[in-house]
Order: sequence, then C-alpha cells, then structure tokens
Amino acid sequence: MGVAVPDTYVELADLAMARGVAPGKYVEGLGVTRMGVPLVNEDTVTLAARAARMALESAGCSPEDVGLLVVGTETAVDHSKPVASYVQGLLGLPTRCRIFETKHACYGGTAALQMALDWVRSGSAKGRKALIVCSDIARYGVGTPGEPTQGAGAVAMLVSDTPALLALEAGKTGVYSKDVMDFWRPLYSKDALVDGHYSVQCYLDALEGAYRAYQESAAEPAGEGAYSDRFAALVYHVPYGKMSRKAHRHLRTLDGDTAPDASFDRLVGNSLVLPSQVGNIYTGSMYLALASLLSTASQDLTGQRVGLFSYGSGSCAEFFSGVVQAGAQERVKALGLEARLTRRRALSIPEYEDVMRAREHLDERPAADAAGSGFRYQGTRDHKRIYAT
Ligand code: CAA
Repeated sequence: MGVAVPDTYVELADLAMARGVAPGKYVEGLGVTRMGVPLVNEDTVTLAARAARMALESAGCSPEDVGLLVVGTETAVDHSKPVASYVQGLLGLPTRCRIFETKHACYGGTAALQMALDWVRSGSAKGRKALIVCSDIARYGVGTPGEPTQGAGAVAMLVSDTPALLALEAGKTGVYSKDVMDFWRPLYSKDALVDGHYSVQCYLDALEGAYRAYQESAAEPAGEGAYSDRFAALVYHVPYGKMSRKAHRHLRTLDGDTAPDASFDRLVGNSLVLPSQVGNIYTGSMYLALASLLSTASQDLTGQRVGLFSYGSGSCAEFFSGVVQAGAQERVKALGLEARLTRRRALSIPEYEDVMRAREHLDERPAADAAGSGFRYQGTRDHKRIYAT
C-alpha cells in the first residue's frame, strides 16, 4: 500500500470562521479537522504516481512485476487518455501491462480492485501483480455546504495471490446499486454538485442493501449477538468522519443493537484518524481509512477479520471483507503516514481561495520552463500535459 496527500492543507476551524460558521460545526459536527488542498503543480496524476511509487517501494517490487494497472478516479485529467497511462510513463511500467481507468464516483477504485482480484484468482496474472490506484481531488464550490468536505489524495495497492496486508475473502461480498441523483459532476463543471442530505440517505440505503447481500453471500451459521461483532473492525467510506458514525449507527441498528453507538470507538475509531486530517479523497477514502486502522490500532489484528464498505454516488456500493495478515500493521506503520501529515504546510484562507481560482484554468496553464522533479504537473504545451519526473 502507498498513500500520497498534498503538501498543503486548510484548517477547518479557520475555514469555518471565514464562512461565519461555528468551528464546532465542521470539526465536531462533520468530524473533519483538516482538508488537503493541492497546489497548482499537483493533480490526480501526480498524486497517483506518488502513491504507486510508495506501494512498489514498500512491497520491494519493481515496475516489471506489474501486469495490470487500473486507476479509479472521478477527477480525471482527460476525456480519452487515462490517468493510468501517465502513471505508467512516470513509473516506467512495462509495455506488457494492461492499463486503463475506471469511473463510478467513489466506488471506481473498488470496482478496479474487485476486477483485479478476479484477474489474480483466474490465473491470468501468471505471478504478476495488479497495481490499483485510487486518486482524486474532491472539489465543491467555495461557500457551498460541501466546501468543508473537500480533500485530495491517492491510495495505491498491489494485489497478488500472496497478500501481505489483507487477504480479501473470495465470494464474500454484497453489492447494492441504484440509479439515484445524489452527487454528480456534469462534463462542463470543475465542481461537484450534490443534494447533500439526500446523499447521506442514499449512502445509508446502499449500506443496508450491501450489508444484507454480504450476509447472504457469506452464508454463515446464525450466531449469538450482533452480526457485525464477527469483525474486529469496520471500515466505511469516509466523505467526512460523521458519515462513518451515521453508517455505524445504522448498521448496528440493523443488527438489533439497542445501543448502536456503544461499539463505535472499538470498531471504527482507528479508521478515522488519518481521514480526519485529509478530508474526502473520493475513491481512496475507504482505503485511507483502512491504512488508518492498520497504522493506528494498538491491538494486534493478525488473523482478524475486517469489514469494508465502499460507496459511490449514483450509485453502487459493496460490502466485503478481508483477514489481516501477520506483519501487516508493522508494514503500514513503517510508511510513517501520521508523521508525513504533520510535515504539511497550512494555507491561510486567502491563499486557499487563490489556489481554488488558479485551479479553474489549470488544464491550460502554460508549461513552466523549469525542469522540476518528483512527479509534478508542469503545465500544458501543444495541448499535452507535461510532468516532471
Ligand atoms: N457544533 C457541533 N455540531 C454542529 C454545530 C456546532 N456548532 N452546528 C451544526 N452541527 C452538526 C449538525 O447537528 C450536523 O450533525 P448531524 O448530522 O449529526 O445532525 C452536522 O453538524 C452537519 O450540519 P448540517 O447537516 O446542518 O450541515 P450542512 O447542511 O451544512 O451540510 C452535508 C452537511 C450535507 C454533509 C454537506 O457538507 C455536503 O453536502 N457534503 C457533500 C456531500 C457528502 O459528503 N455526502 C455524503 C454521502 S455521499 C458519499 O459518501 C459520496 C461522496 O464521497 C461525496
């Protein structure tokens, strides 16, 4: 696994004050402390490439080991050329590699992951690994209710038949999909549009449908107590921390738990540590929550089962599960994600608003002459995006 977030962020308490809102509404009410805001040299490609490089380095793999690269994103940089092709170029992946992009709002990365699992299980992988990257820059209009639920980042995962972090359980998965208009982004808009409170209800309906479908697919004997106590932890899609709390309350109520909040800290708390510092990263949000669980949980999760709920507006959702592998927590802790987050720079609200304005025309920004380095977007020349390696 690899994670990349922007080097800059906005403090939600500062944003609240600038918008004339009580800071408690954003920090406690939504459960977000900081949101990642990328500068103009960062885009979906650079975040994806940085996360992918970390995943390869952390697993001790070379680009030659990868036979499938899929980038799940809902903030792509081109209508035709996939983010994955840029990532292939930046990382030097082999030409004998199947490469494409997937889209279904925040579910796009999970769609890619499930497809990669089938590729591995079918034998088509022939020992090679799939590289799945979820990368997005969440953007709502300045001053809209969605503004405090922005964020940016990427999570990359290597998938193989010798998992080092999580062994995803074959066949145990529940899907729920429904044509709803809760969140969307028309082709002519840089900002997402959302029917906010309706989107919360759509998320909860999808959770219920996917969770029931999962239980049917798992076909386990009935047991005592709440079904979700079969999991050592639950990782929900996190558009903002409070949504995970609402999700957990709903799921435990479905389980017949009359005190549905009582298990929140035990089953969900660790998964929200990193997301509360980064905000919504759309496709990668649930996987950032998984990284948060593995890097911050104090108890040994080896051999324990984790439940995962992925939600993409529009909508498609999936509840699935995996078993934590020996050494997984040490591996993710070694990425030093919490320390990386403390090294970011805070933007003032005027600086943030300047960046938001500059990002409006980012696609046409003339390519800078300076060479630069470290996977940065340089600008566009002859209608081609230029990246510094
Ligand atoms: N102190 C503490 N809490 C406070 C407070 C204060 N001073 N003032 C308000 N609050 C609480 C409210 O009680 C509320 O909590 P509850 O939900 O527990 O009641 C919370 O703060 C938020 O208040 P509002 O509901 O009044 O906030 P809002 O109407 O301005 O908007 C929102 C909230 C709808 C989530 C909005 O931010 C939004 O549209 N966000 C984008 C959409 C989104 O993220 N949807 C999630 C489901 S869809 C999905 O998951 C896909 C995806 O990634 C987008």
